[in-house]
Order: sequence, then structure tokens, then C-alpha cells
Amino acid sequence: MTENVRVVILAAGLGTRMRSMVAKVLHEAGGDTLLNHVIRAALHVTPAENIVAVVGHQAEQVRQSVKFPGVRFAEQKEQKGTGHAVLCAREEVGMNGGRLLILNGDGPLLRPPTLQALLQESSGSDGGSIVTTEVADATGYGRIVRDPDGTVAAIVEQKASTPEQLQIREINPGVYCFNAGLFWQYIEEIKPDNPAKEYYLTDMVAIMKRHGHSITPLLVKDETELLGINTRVELAVADKLLRRRKTQELMLSGVTIENPESVTVDVDVQVGEDSLIESNVHLRGRTQVGANCRIGTGTVLRDCEVADNVTVLPYVVADSAKVGRGASIGPFSRLRLHAEAEEDTHIGNFVELKKTKLGRGSKASHLAYLGDAIIGSGANIGAGTITCNYDGVRKHQTTIGEGAFIGSNSTLVAPLTVEDGAFVAAGSTITKNVEADALAIGRAYQVDKPGWAKKRRTSNGNGS
Ligand code: UD1
Ligand code: MG
Repeated sequence: MTENVRVVILAAGLGTRMRSMVAKVLHEAGGDTLLNHVIRAALHVTPAENIVAVVGHQAEQVRQSVKFPGVRFAEQKEQKGTGHAVLCAREEVGMNGGRLLILNGDGPLLRPPTLQALLQESSGSDGGSIVTTEVADATGYGRIVRDPDGTVAAIVEQKASTPEQLQIREINPGVYCFNAGLFWQYIEEIKPDNPAKEYYLTDMVAIMKRHGHSITPLLVKDETELLGINTRVELAVADKLLRRRKTQELMLSGVTIENPESVTVDVDVQVGEDSLIESNVHLRGRTQVGANCRIGTGTVLRDCEVADNVTVLPYVVADSAKVGRGASIGPFSRLRLHAEAEEDTHIGNFVELKKTKLGRGSKASHLAYLGDAIIGSGANIGAGTITCNYDGVRKHQTTIGEGAFIGSNSTLVAPLTVEDGAFVAAGSTITKNVEADALAIGRAYQVDKPGWAKKRRTSNGNGS
């Protein structure tokens, strides 16, 4: 990392073209906000303490959304343009020497190697360097006007461009590295003398030039890395590119992905080697999947922790759940609110776990609701078991001991404890604690009446 670098990220605008009540940088692509993506890239060249995000629209929400501790903020109360936004960060940046890296908060595809190359490039030029790229359609971008010696003479905004300048395909993606001392010295020279009456940061290039300092371009070939998001159509393009980048990164790190275009993996998700992700899987938030797992089609995992050697069969929906090594979940299981399935557990179809811990090697193979329960190891939860955890006012706990056997279609009315090794007969409604190794039967006794059915048929004139 280069010590003498400060980063300013511009994130105060509303983003009128998004047509949204939500500030633009809070919109998400690839599983994170636009702003977090930009910060993530900046963190590769400097520590969080050297990064200042300029916030304005929904400043508080934007601050809250930043998930990297140490990042600082400056406020731009009125959005008077990108040049004014940087000025608002002057005090917070608090440095007059070194390099000042300025990044638009709406460019989520920017990659660390480009920032590193830009810092490198700028060290050979007194005014600084800016990233440029050539695009097929330059609409909306500032155009790069070059001097005969190849340095950048000016950036001309779309609205201020002459018809000839509008033909230029080399554009400004909003990634700048200035000589900080010179930048702060000249910043007051940026004036709102343009059709939009805004303080354009981009004017700094011509200002530097006027004072005899050159700005060199770093022409980046891959224009998709430099896409600026102004509309939801561009947001969708960025989302697709970020997700493709993520699945490629996983595949190169040893994860097999069937039909990668169909899976949705958020940027912070981790998956271990030799795991296999079937098509149409969603891995969201901070989900971590271990090595040698299989994640079945249609499964949606958010903020889950899945250990090694776990099989998740198709169509499992899990939220903030923890699954131990060797467990098998699904198909069609639901785990939520810190549900935990320990090692070698089995959770089968149409089983829901909420705030429930299923002990090592225990099984709940079919049709059950297990809420607010602690279940010991080696227990068997029969089909149709329901923990009645809610009395209409409060939630109550169910505890099921080690090796307990809960027969099918049992109703366990909480608060309740079924101790170790106890056996609950199928079809029981259990309202009292069951002691260890006991049998509990809570159902009407069966009465048999020999011949009754046949007699009934005969009396109805239907004796066959
Ligand atoms: C800007 C550049 C343009 C470049 C394009 C790349 C200027 C004047 N123009 O145009 O040359 O081609 O980015 O995507 O800089 N912002 C603030 N405060 C403000 C205004 C904007 O913080 O007062 C922030 C926005 O939240 C956004 C970023 O600055 O993250 C860029 O603003 P935006 O309005 O999107 O600028 P563009 O029109 O895209
Ligand atoms: Mg923009």
C-alpha cells in the first residue's frame, strides 16, 4: 500500500435519473451497495482511515450502510456539483501533500489493479493522472480532450461540449489521482460557469494545465470496469457483470458451478474448494459454504454458515442459519432466525426450524415445525411433530433430550421438557414434562368393536 494516499469518494448526489426515493449510492448491484463496492476497491490501496466518503442525500442512511469500519465521512449539505463535493471533504482529508485519489461513488465495477496502475502512472506526472476509456456510446460522459503530446488538456462535460467534442469516444469514468498540494491550492478556481451552474470537478484538469502542470491519461481497455451507474438499466448491467465476476472468481478458486449464468452469488459470499453449486441457487449476504458441499438447485441461503461436507438438496430456504459438518438438509426445508443444525444432522422435506438447535446426529426427516427448541444429539423427531411455542402472547421453549424419540404427529405444548432417552408415542399431545427414559402417551385409547363396520353396511342395504 502507498502511505501517502488519501481517497475521496463522491456519494452525496440523489441520482435523479434513478427515479427513486433512495439515494443512488444505496442502490445495490452484485449483492452490495454501489458505495460499498467503490470503498472495497479503494481499500486495496489505502487503509480505511484514509478514505473519506462525501455524503449528502440521506446522509445518515448512507453512513449506516458503509460496512467498513474506519471510513470517514464529510457532508455536502447542498449538491452543487462534484467539484464542490470534494471541497466539502477538505478538512476531513486533512492532508496537503501526497496523492489525492478521487472516485465517483457510482462506479461499482472499478478494480484494484486499475487504482494501483493509476497511482503508478501519477507518480510520473506533476499534476496527476486520470483514468480514461473508449466507449461505443459516450452519451452522458465527460469527453477527454487531449493535447498533441498525449496529455489531457481538458474534460468537457456533455452539456458543455461542441458538436466536434461530442464525437470523441474517449471518456472520463470519474477516477482521478491528483497531486494533493496543487489540487487544494487551485480548488477555489473551479467556478459554476457552465450550463448546469454546477462546480465541475472535471474543470480541475484544465486548471492544472493552465498553471503548467500536466495530467496524464491511463487508458483502460475494459470499458465495462468503468461503467457509471445513472439509471436502473445501467444498474442491471452492473449487477450482471459483478455476478459474473464473482462466479468466475469462485470457479477459479475450485468451486464447480453448473450453469453459472443462472446462479446469484453476492460479493461477500465464500465457498470452499470442491463444493458444487447447482443451477438457480442464490447465495446471499455473508453466507459461507465450506469445502466439499453440494448446494441443490433452487436453494436460497442468506447469511448462513455451512460447514464442510454438507449436502443441501434442492429448494432449501435458509436465513442466518448454521449447518454443521456432514449434515444433510432438504429438499424443501426452511431454517431461519439462528436455527442451528449440528454435525451429521438430517433435516428433510417440509421441516421448518426457527431459533432451534438440532443436536449432533439428530433427525427431523419429514413435515415438522420446530420453533424455540433445543434438541439434544441422536434424537429422532417424527413426521408431523409440532412444537407449540406460541400461546398467542408469548413464545415458550421446548427442550428435547439426547436420544429422545418423538413419535409421528406429536404436539409438544411449550414450555416443555422431554428428557434424555424418553419416548413420546405417535399422535400424542404432550403438555407435561416427560422424565428420562419414560414413555409418554397423550392420546385417547383405541376402542375396537368387532363386526361393527360390516353390520353398518348391511343395515344400509349395502352388504357387499
Ligand atoms: C460525472 C463526471 C463525468 C463523468 C461521469 C462518469 C462531473 C462534473 N462529471 O458525471 O465527466 O464522465 O461522472 O460516470 O464530475 N455527487 C456528489 N455531489 C454533487 C454531485 C455529485 O457527491 O453535488 C456524486 C454523486 O453521488 C455520484 C458522483 O458524484 O456518485 C458523480 O455524480 P453524477 O451526477 O453521477 O455525475 P455524472 O453526470 O455521471
Ligand atoms: Mg454518474
